[in-house]
Amino acid sequence: TMLMLGIESTCDETAAAVVEDGRIVHSSAIATQFQLHEKFRGVVPEIASRAHIENIMPVIRESLDMADIALTELDAIAVAHRPGLIGSLLIGVTAAKTLAWSLGKPLLPVDHVQAHLYSVMLAEKGHLIQGKGQEGEALLRSLPSSVTCLSLPAVGLVCSGGHTALYLVNDWLDIELIGSTIDDAVGEAYDKVAAMLGLAFPGGPEIDRLAAAGNPAALKLPRSMLGRDSLDFSFSGLKTAVRYQVFGYQGKERTLDDLTDVEIKDVAASFQAACVDALFKKVSRAVKQFNANSVVMGGGVSANRGLREAFLGLPVPVHAPPMQYCTDNAAMIAGLGYVLCQAGQAASLDLDAVTSSSIPRR
Ligand code: KG4
Ligand code: ZN
Repeated sequence: TMLMLGIESTCDETAAAVVEDGRIVHSSAIATQFQLHEKFRGVVPEIASRAHIENIMPVIRESLDMADIALTELDAIAVAHRPGLIGSLLIGVTAAKTLAWSLGKPLLPVDHVQAHLYSVMLAEKGHLIQGKGQEGEALLRSLPSSVTCLSLPAVGLVCSGGHTALYLVNDWLDIELIGSTIDDAVGEAYDKVAAMLGLAFPGGPEIDRLAAAGNPAALKLPRSMLGRDSLDFSFSGLKTAVRYQVFGYQGKERTLDDLTDVEIKDVAASFQAACVDALFKKVSRAVKQFNANSVVMGGGVSANRGLREAFLGLPVPVHAPPMQYCTDNAAMIAGLGYVLCQAGQAASLDLDAVTSSSIPRR
């Protein structure tokens, strides 16, 4: 077996994890910074890098302690070296290089977006069922997110606060970009609508919760399809439509105080329905266009209950990560790092942090 330490610091979470053979998560430690950025309602890069510096060593230590292993038992170090905020990336990359050099172990360079797609393959230690025995299948049904058998090519959807894009996954190391948002990421739209409704940041989970109790047909909101065959997304028009329909036009403005609890739930439900609809339609289109055998999803918004439920209506099997691996984490970095390692793709110690993703457009 191979024990991989994964390190993640691309944006505002500092995370470290120990994963066995690319799938079995022994530990996943995360230091979130959201309180630091809350009052700005967005990530402030300088504040993020400073917090990464403070958090990185304690988080790595925590991941080792949780897994109950010593540094010297690690077989390799994987790090998310792209895409992200340059000041944030540098902290994780520097820590990973230092460990790889001092332990004399391979360094694996992981693309964070690719890792979000790979996160469907993760399972908690003791929960991954191998083989196809009856007992295994029974356990699997109670754990629908641990994939034992994934049929490629898959259409991949990464939807988070920073990314909303579609991919064709031919293999874990052969992924092509087939569509992306032309303006806001869907998570960003969630966060902005949540701010309008006076909800806490990040707003996704809160809107998801309220939406379950609201009427999705209360507002007539647009679904930007961007042409018959387009696989791109647009969410900024939707956000603006919510603003005008809820708070009115000049001369007839309303404020947050004018909204009842029922109205807030209806706005949440209507907004969520529009997002889910747009994502569902584009994913269906991509499955048809590329004759895909399955769908994999990742990123913070893939934790959305409305989205997961709707995706069960797709014509091919859908795999979503376990809830705790939807948002940024290091287990997915260690997981994909294992695949890179098996493929002989270790990096040298002059590895760079890069702000853009490595995934090519098809
Ligand atoms: O993947 P992530 O942790 O970080 C980025 O790479 O952006 O995603 C965070 C985003 C936030 O915008 C948050 O509001 C959204 O994911 N999110 C959700 C849910 N949980 C998190 N959006 C909708 N429904 C959810 N249940
Ligand atoms: Zn992410």
